[in-house]
Amino acid sequence: MGSGVTPNAVAAVDEARQWDRLMQMARIGAIPGDGVNRACLTDLDRQARRLLIAWAEGLGLGVSVDALGNLFLRHEGTQPGLAPVLTGSHMDTQPNGGRFDGIWGVIAGLESVQALREAGVATRRPIEVVAWTNEEGGRFAPGCMGSMAYAGFKPADAWDDVADTAGLTFGEELRRHLELEADLPRRGLGVVDGAPPFAYVECHIEQGPRLEAEGLDIGVVTGIQGSRWFTVEINGKSDHAGTTPLRLRKDAVQDMVRAITALNALMHDPEDVLRFTVARIEVSPNSSNSVAERVRFSIDFRHPDAKVLTERGDAIERVVNGALTTCTATVTERFHALPITFDRLVRDAVERAARAQGLGTLRLPSGAFHDAQFMSRICPTGMIFVPSRAGVSHHPSEYTEPDQLAAGARVLAAVLADLANR
Ligand code: GLV
Ligand code: MN
Ligand code: MN
Repeated sequence: MGSGVTPNAVAAVDEARQWDRLMQMARIGAIPGDGVNRACLTDLDRQARRLLIAWAEGLGLGVSVDALGNLFLRHEGTQPGLAPVLTGSHMDTQPNGGRFDGIWGVIAGLESVQALREAGVATRRPIEVVAWTNEEGGRFAPGCMGSMAYAGFKPADAWDDVADTAGLTFGEELRRHLELEADLPRRGLGVVDGAPPFAYVECHIEQGPRLEAEGLDIGVVTGIQGSRWFTVEINGKSDHAGTTPLRLRKDAVQDMVRAITALNALMHDPEDVLRFTVARIEVSPNSSNSVAERVRFSIDFRHPDAKVLTERGDAIERVVNGALTTCTATVTERFHALPITFDRLVRDAVERAARAQGLGTLRLPSGAFHDAQFMSRICPTGMIFVPSRAGVSHHPSEYTEPDQLAAGARVLAAVLADLANR
């Protein structure tokens, strides 16, 4: 592309239009305190997707869906046979989520493509805006199912039996979802059915405090730390809380407390780099005067060093079993994402574009996982971060200013124009 063309596209990014779309999306699944609860494959998710599709069709983009429900909006290239540049993120939220995590990456993709089109910027390569299915993993664990299947990490039916709290399975809900979107053209599933994209770039709020603290506009993301998720199930015996002597009990809650205490010791890190979280606990029968016969709890464990992630993660089962006094336990791994470093192609393109626009940049790694973690295994990948107020995320108070989001979309527009003309 001629260097005089991109500035027009950058100028065509419309801050008010992007903000208005985000606020329209935020109404779908709104919860008190400006939050959003829009779990994947629910009617709310479909409502949000239909709104996105309506905007995309209004712009003349080609809409299609794959076997995982990943949704694609295609801006055609002048050489349609070339591998496309992909950009996007996810539309599902945490149960007590905010208005920006995920959805901004999708809306920024749409805004950037609209800006390119309005500025009359043709690209050799097609550009596809993607909304990945189930990034959060809040309803069906783990997250990143759509991108993992697209990138060939797991077969499309890998999570069919994963159930939500109501007992509905991912497989059934996905089938129902695809039936409800049967009017949309179906496409093959990523590298399973076709060639990898030329590159992938994902816009996201930082979800941490660094950009705001340093007064900078754009995070040039260098990589993503590794994550492992486990479910621990502890089985004991239910008894009467008033009559059963402690020496005769197999109390699953008491052994859970011992297991978590032992895990805290295993995961102790004086540097405070390691992230270890137990945040979901199910107790059965969950009655104050019955001894618990079963407890299930989640483990979210993260570290940037693959060796630490592997060694301490692999020790979890032994440590849990060693801590139990009367019960038995099973430990199931649900998610394993190794730490990754992003390719220079996208990273440099983001940095160049941001600096050319006079924006302050910071190179930083991501503590949160993203679909980009799996895309980075099949094509050059990078991410664009914008500041998060007080670093808060996965909470209704998550916030980024409209002009900060517009700056991110302007960088994306330039990066897409650059990559899609290579
Ligand atoms: C993504 O939402 C994560 O938990 O990092
Ligand atoms: Mn996200
Ligand atoms: Mn998230």
